[in-house]
Amino acid sequence: MKIAVFAGDGIGPEVTHEAVRVLQALDLPGLELVEGDVGGAAWRKHGHPLPEATLEIARAADAILFGAVGDFECDHLERHLRPEQAILGLRKALGLFANLRPARVFPGLEDHSALRPEVAGAIDLLIVRELNGDVYFGEKGIRTLDNGERQGWDMMAYAESEVRRIAHVGFKAARGRKGRLCSVDKANVLETSQVWRDVMIEVAAEYPDVELSHMYVDNAAMQLVKSPGQFDVVVTGNLFGDILSDQASMCVGSIGLLASASMAEGTKGLYEPIHGSAPDIAGQGKANPMATILSAAMLLRHSFGREAEAARIEAAVAAALADGVFGGDLGGTYGTTAIGDAVLGRL
Ligand code: NAD
Ligand code: IPM
Ligand code: MN
Repeated sequence: MKIAVFAGDGIGPEVTHEAVRVLQALDLPGLELVEGDVGGAAWRKHGHPLPEATLEIARAADAILFGAVGDFECDHLERHLRPEQAILGLRKALGLFANLRPARVFPGLEDHSALRPEVAGAIDLLIVRELNGDVYFGEKGIRTLDNGERQGWDMMAYAESEVRRIAHVGFKAARGRKGRLCSVDKANVLETSQVWRDVMIEVAAEYPDVELSHMYVDNAAMQLVKSPGQFDVVVTGNLFGDILSDQASMCVGSIGLLASASMAEGTKGLYEPIHGSAPDIAGQGKANPMATILSAAMLLRHSFGREAEAARIEAAVAAALADGVFGGDLGGTYGTTAIGDAVLGRL
């Protein structure tokens, strides 16, 4: 079990440390952790956010546990040197095209959602976000117009094959859950989305047991707050999925709770919280490590088939939350280490 650990910037190392403690506590046979530099931290040490040595560690590993990258002191750098290129580069280099972002309300947390308890209590959804295409990876640039002003531009595009492979992930996920798949797009305006919708309908023929629906992304944002319980699996593009998953996190209670898995065709995956480096609380021991701990659970499930250990971690987090182990993000007083201790104690 060779696991690459890329802690990154800001709260990344703080939350990753707790997730590693949890993994180590499980006495997994052959567990081997290999650390690597990413993000602003890597740029400071090696002059690049995703050094070749880190990429090699990632390629040699069975799975990657990722903290977060992002450092405002790097905002002046050329885009290819910015910390965020580490995570974008890893997703692309390893072909991690399917991003799974589950969101459910833990028992006892209904009162901590930004929504009314009876609305929040019904949330149990999975966002399947395409991760290798869209406006993220299209050509981009800043050009000067005839009148002298600058114009920034980013190409949004999806090829049918890119949509088809994420569609299959969405349909299979829905088949293993409540059998409902909602495809979110902006087909009333974007040609990218028209192709997306056409392919979703085409692939649906292979999954007669799954009920496919379509929703425009603006309505989806509204419905996610109005009645999130209507969603089972949501499949959407890279940009819409990024935005909707942060929104889903607050419906559940906090961004400090949402884990994710980024998968390629096989079992190799990268696992990370959906949040970023949180510079506003970095270095203060305040960050909630639960999202990263839950990402470690996803790692055991999806890359190693260790369902029992994954469920044990999830149960320990749920028990801690049920006992009122809340970080500042949930209005509580527990710090990062205390939350880690509380989860370990319940493991
Ligand atoms: P963010 O997710 O880092 O923080 C948003 C807000 O949520 C902040 O107030 C922060 O304190 C809070 N927060 C986030 N995680 C938390 C946790 N575990 N516990 C408690 N509170 C938490 O988003 P941002 O502020 O927009 O971005 C900061 C940096 O992170 C940027 O450089 C951005 O590019 C980067 N980023 C990286 C990733 C990633 O590595 N995958 C993801 C998102 C953002
Ligand atoms: C995420 C982040 C990244 C994204 C950034 C840091 C590139 O917001 O993982 O959700 O937009 O995918
Ligand atoms: Mn994001």
